[in-house]
Amino acid sequence: MSRSPDRLRIDSGGDQFTVSGPSPRLSWRVPRAFAGQSAYELEAAVDGAPLARVTQASGEHLFIPWPWAPLQSCQRVTWRVRVRGDQGSSDWSDPARFEVGLLDSDWMAQWISPVEGADEGYGKRPAYALSTRFELSADVASARLYATALGVYEAFVNGRRAGTAELTPGSTSYDRTLYAQAMDVTESLQPGSNELEVLLSDGWYRGKTGGFRLPSGWGTTTAARLELHVWHHDASRQVVRSDATWTSSRSRIARADLMDGQAVDLGSPSDVRHPVLVDQVVAPDIDWSPAPPVRRIESRPPVTMRQTGTGGWVADFGQNASGWISLADLGPAGTRTIIDYGEFVGTDGDLTTAHLDSVLPEGGPVRFLQRDEVVSAGDGAVFEPRHTVHGFQYARLRRDDGRVIDPASVTMHVVHSDLTRTGTFECSSADLNRLHDIAVWSSRGNAVDVPTDCPTRERIGWTGDYQVFAPAATRLYDVHGFTRKWLRSVRDDQLPDGRIANFSPDGRRTKLNLEDRLARTTGSAGWGDAIVVVPMELYEAYGDREVLSENWAAMVRWVEWCLDAARTHRHPTRIERSADPLPHEQLIWDGTYHWGEWAEPTPKAPDGTPIEPLSDPVESDNGELGTAYLYRSSATLARIAEILGRPAEAARYAGIASQVRDAWRTEFLDESGRTAGDTQAGYVRALWFGLIPGELRQSAVRRLVELIRATGNHLGTGFLSTAQLLPVLADLGYADVAYDLLFQRTSPSWLTMLDRGATTIWEEWDGIDDDGNPHASLNHYSKGAVVHFLHTHVLGLRQAEDSVAWESFVVAPVQHREITWARGSYESPQGRIDVAWRIEGGTFQITVDIPPGSTAEVVFPDGESTTLPPGQFSATRPAPTGTF
Ligand code: BGC
Repeated sequence: MSRSPDRLRIDSGGDQFTVSGPSPRLSWRVPRAFAGQSAYELEAAVDGAPLARVTQASGEHLFIPWPWAPLQSCQRVTWRVRVRGDQGSSDWSDPARFEVGLLDSDWMAQWISPVEGADEGYGKRPAYALSTRFELSADVASARLYATALGVYEAFVNGRRAGTAELTPGSTSYDRTLYAQAMDVTESLQPGSNELEVLLSDGWYRGKTGGFRLPSGWGTTTAARLELHVWHHDASRQVVRSDATWTSSRSRIARADLMDGQAVDLGSPSDVRHPVLVDQVVAPDIDWSPAPPVRRIESRPPVTMRQTGTGGWVADFGQNASGWISLADLGPAGTRTIIDYGEFVGTDGDLTTAHLDSVLPEGGPVRFLQRDEVVSAGDGAVFEPRHTVHGFQYARLRRDDGRVIDPASVTMHVVHSDLTRTGTFECSSADLNRLHDIAVWSSRGNAVDVPTDCPTRERIGWTGDYQVFAPAATRLYDVHGFTRKWLRSVRDDQLPDGRIANFSPDGRRTKLNLEDRLARTTGSAGWGDAIVVVPMELYEAYGDREVLSENWAAMVRWVEWCLDAARTHRHPTRIERSADPLPHEQLIWDGTYHWGEWAEPTPKAPDGTPIEPLSDPVESDNGELGTAYLYRSSATLARIAEILGRPAEAARYAGIASQVRDAWRTEFLDESGRTAGDTQAGYVRALWFGLIPGELRQSAVRRLVELIRATGNHLGTGFLSTAQLLPVLADLGYADVAYDLLFQRTSPSWLTMLDRGATTIWEEWDGIDDDGNPHASLNHYSKGAVVHFLHTHVLGLRQAEDSVAWESFVVAPVQHREITWARGSYESPQGRIDVAWRIEGGTFQITVDIPPGSTAEVVFPDGESTTLPPGQFSATRPAPTGTF
């Protein structure tokens, strides 16, 4: 068993190596042989020079503030740790390495922009090549390229790609936050003349954004900024910087847009080079991202490739995902191939994307299209579009010459943030395993540098979607840096009055366009509340208190705005009831815009025809839902204030929360435990948030069960409460009902998605309807948040209430006759947890592996429980009887 700490890490991103700012925080895992840690010793060396050893009597091993003087640009750091505990002193860990990025104050390069001709219009603009040449001696010890852009860039040294990250510099709110990348380009340099080139396209900065494909408004001029630092063996340094000596030309990428796609003419002649424009842009300070980069994660050949009636070829990759294809067979010079991407193929075998079309609020269709085009140079080059990204399972390839396209030359590249997997789940039910699998795929497809709603129609970081999915996300992947980066955008985009933008990064820049339609729909319960819920989820999952403090001011401004909205606005139904507000109405949040529960099952007429439209969020009275969220966010804020040592605010928000709860009860709850809305979602929310008083909880859950039974065991929830439907039922004594819903095979249900061929979770319950027709996005993760239940209840592994960073957890599998075994793991901040249970031959066997620093409570099927220290535990008990 290991006697040295491992998994040494700093809270930073990077690509080929970890890159930090001046004061990274340090974390490690206590050795498996130890029950815990009582002290630690740290050693570090900067550019080979040792720093004074630091010794600290402390059990802390997560997010330790950098204990030495702040680091400087480009420094290379090695550090290691050893700990003391019940086993005495551990061995030293293996050394961990990272480099400091080029810190903002040390950037001397100029911003360079291409010379553009007549504007082709957003969505249609080319990528430009910006380049320079420089001389080098033979004596190169190492080289780093530091680069960023307002736009999307790829850098090349002597024609070789720098780094492995895609879609750099990533998606941020570019008026306030901009990250750079550091790349090791030592191997690409040569003695004598060298070329440094960057391909620059509109990207998230200036391209299309959102379902309406409107222009992203961060700026009108794209630009890049680069510094190449070359160290010689005598430690002298040569630096090549972007400046007025660089040239710009149109590249072979004739059109590049993240949404619309990319067109490349590989045979086009080289364009005239013009001197670049210099310092034409205003950009924020350069920073170093805490998130891992977007990368090509996986490549897949087509499962089938069939010719369509109209002569095209449709490649089916068997999996809906985000990314692009590469195509090696481009035909003779001059051959044009048009590639359309989508997630559905109709009965005619052809691709259709009509279900992803939108309608502008003022009317007018927005056609969904993801189209790449390539013209061959006949030279064997491979086409791979890296200035766009698509959501797709199918690609349709068409050629004017109608030649057969070799399937072996077509490859799908799955592209998303390179997150580390932390949670696994498997059980005896193939259906549940498959459901887990498709939810994981949705989570991957919606992690392209920011958490998105879908990788197709909108591809934007809708706050509500991640608010719902964050607990599942933290369970499946290490999303600490990824989410922290996104929260910075959420803060960057906050409106002056405290409202949280609907999505972040907000390329529509709602905060500056307060008269815009988007601004009028901004400030919804369940969406804006992400600023409170998501940091709290990160704190609980990873133990990072700083996530709470850096978001504190933004969450206070949000909750204060909500309180003000509740005080100053009333829904027409309440105005009709009484001209003057009743006293408790001051805390009923009903008069401003709410999206509502959203994407609930489509109501159907008795003959089964769907009734359109769904409820209109503008007209509906969403007071019950809004006030419930106001309660939850103010109560959470009170807890956060306590954690941050802010007693006055803790008292203030606890007081407000209890008044909001009373107001909610007065307005929406009767003495029998029935809610005014009397919907499944309403009961789930009220029970989960703790709005129903103890004595009425059982009658409320009974009513929820009645509503479910009345629809033949079908759920009626949408975006906001689906994730909690099963846990609420199971925790309040109705595990049988929870499992009836989980195993339900007729619509609306999760297994219907499987039966109708889903490879990712759908936005709507009937994403593919009874007749096989597609509706809305087929890759939206909110309803997939149910996989959290598979971990917490089927496997039975969950963090104990009030525990942080998994210092204590519970293993309490909730049995069902169709599940005879489950196993899973979680790479917790304390170390790896493994759980496996099995029912066989009348016995229930369980094994649990508890990492150092954690305690576990194992609850057996008969309700007996035992509390355990770190180590391995196994037990056998009589199998449960009579379980459903
Ligand atoms: C998006 C959602 C989003 C919603 C707002 C939709 O068009 O795709 O995921 O949260 O709008 O309700």
